[in-house]
Amino acid sequence: MRPVRIVTLALATTALALPLAAIPATADPGSDHQAAPHSNAKFDRLRHAAPEGFFVGTAVAGGGHHLEQDYPDPFTYDKEYRKILSRQFSSVSPENQMKWDFIHPERDRYRFDEADAIVDFAERHGQVVRGHTLLWHSQNPAWLEQGDFTDEELRAILREHIETVVGRYAGRIQQWDVANEIFDDAGNLRTEQNIWIRELGPGIVADAFRWAHEADPEAKLFFNDYNVEGRNAKSNAYYELVQDLLAEGVPVHGFSAQGHLSTRWGFPGDLEQNLRRFDALGLETAITELDVRMDLPESGVPTEAQLEQQADYYDQALSACLAVANCNSFTIWGFTDKYSWVPVFFQGQGSATVMTEDFVRKPAFFALQSTLKDARNG
Ligand code: G3I
Repeated sequence: MRPVRIVTLALATTALALPLAAIPATADPGSDHQAAPHSNAKFDRLRHAAPEGFFVGTAVAGGGHHLEQDYPDPFTYDKEYRKILSRQFSSVSPENQMKWDFIHPERDRYRFDEADAIVDFAERHGQVVRGHTLLWHSQNPAWLEQGDFTDEELRAILREHIETVVGRYAGRIQQWDVANEIFDDAGNLRTEQNIWIRELGPGIVADAFRWAHEADPEAKLFFNDYNVEGRNAKSNAYYELVQDLLAEGVPVHGFSAQGHLSTRWGFPGDLEQNLRRFDALGLETAITELDVRMDLPESGVPTEAQLEQQADYYDQALSACLAVANCNSFTIWGFTDKYSWVPVFFQGQGSATVMTEDFVRKPAFFALQSTLKDARNG
């Protein structure tokens, strides 16, 4: 997603504490390990509340949003954050740590430390990993975007990157976002913005899937984008492209809607219907980056009504995925406002995740928990 980046220190530093009235009586401020009285501690956690085979994921914070904080990567130092990450979720997605500018900072140098740490953490905690991402128009290093390469060299660079990164984690990644955001909202390929498509033509997308499949035949390979929750020009473009690629035998296994939603706009009510048409093509589907931002009142504290509306959006997104046979991966783009990308990119908006900056659970958390439990109990 490429919204204009707005860095507002004041907003980033505002503590988005909830009014007590807005916190459900069962809320469990800052003590994720303590279950509410009489609750079953295990099923109090999202990952255990979920039906068998249904993965509940989160992005693993990539840092850099709260500029006053001196950290490169909250994942490595925030103990409370790590505890909740391991207890609540069965899938993790590196928010930034596998993107080109992080993992391949120079042409002849890869930097795997941060991605390795996430994959190791996931394995220790019985979690699967969604790899993100291999072919994108954004967060590419300067050496790549500003380099002077022949087409042949550029093609070799992409192939080597995919073989190296996908190969390194082969057998340890459940799903890869191979191609991210290749269409604009009108359903046109990002021919100017995307270096690969611009320089090498649209056929490079199919090659990226082929190379990823060769490097890790077990991983499920996805197209991933925002504003494709409903049936619209952009999701239609994917629907057409995927059919062409499948007909050519290209190893495409999944289509995912990111789900960066805002209460400014209505919930995309045809989400389930949209996922179903991709499911009918034999693809897996997934929700990969759900968050629900809102316009904050001057106090910076969302009202109870705003939190209820947000909970409803989260719940509807989850319910749509649960209703589709091969939608088995549901990921939120961070679980705490402490590290959310939203206030940095959207001035005046925030509170987009399911927990406050102090890890207090919001109504959205309880909505997910309850719907997962219902689905588990049939
Ligand atoms: O690494 C630099 C660091 O050196 C610097 O000190 C710091 C301060 O400016 O910035 C750091 O880089 C930032 C990076 O996040 C890591 O924190 C970038 O400026 C910032 O632009 C980047 O934002 C990420 C954004 O993608 C970039 O497009 C967000 O964290 C990340 O949540 C967001 O994620 C995307 C998905 O990948 C694709 N779908 C949309 C989603 C939201 O935009």
